[in-house]
Amino acid sequence: MSDAKRYAAEKAIDYVEDGMLVGVGTGSTVAYFIDALAGIKHRIQGAVSSSEQSTARLRGHGIEVLDLNHAGQLALYVDGADECDPRRCLIKGGGAALTREKIIAEASEKFVCIVDPSKQVAVLGKFPLPIEVIPMARSLVARAIVAATGAQPVWREGVVTDNGNWILDIHGLAITEPLVLERELNQIPGVVSVGLFARRPADVVIVGTEPPTVF
Ligand code: A5P
Repeated sequence: MSDAKRYAAEKAIDYVEDGMLVGVGTGSTVAYFIDALAGIKHRIQGAVSSSEQSTARLRGHGIEVLDLNHAGQLALYVDGADECDPRRCLIKGGGAALTREKIIAEASEKFVCIVDPSKQVAVLGKFPLPIEVIPMARSLVARAIVAATGAQPVWREGVVTDNGNWILDIHGLAITEPLVLERELNQIPGVVSVGLFARRPADVVIVGTEPPTVF
């Protein structure tokens, strides 16, 4: 799969324009994108990063990383996904960076999602849906999710997000109405963010086939 991730990541460079401040996601596919971005770093203004992990890689390549509060609206955000449906709705957060990813996606005019073919699904939910929660609300949120969906929340024990919070992974969902579920889960007190990107889906998905498939 690493070739497929690289093909998708390298294709995403086509969307980078001179002088841009580029929003950068997190994960193994994005790592290829950051490496490719390094090749044109003299052409861009810098990056806004969604995780400490991506920040370290960007800085390692000598790419300047700016605070979103100083950056304002971004023209482009490039990130991976754990699952992608035909409407470009996504499950994200396998790397626990979902909250900052969601913030930067929201701040960006165009969200280009880069995936290998294994991430394409007809219905989201086989990949357990990550939810970032305030630690003291873990059990409350888990009970509310069981009551609302009948699905099985599992605490990703030992993982602390860059924001100091915890992750619940929701197993056993078949998400036929992503927008409705995203809204419903967001209402539970203690939920910081839900790794469902339906209200703000990707604008473009690049699948790392050879040649890449874009939809
Ligand atoms: C990080 O929290 C995630 O949203 C990633 O974007 C997602 O897990 C995809 O990761 P890979 O590119 O490593 O498959």
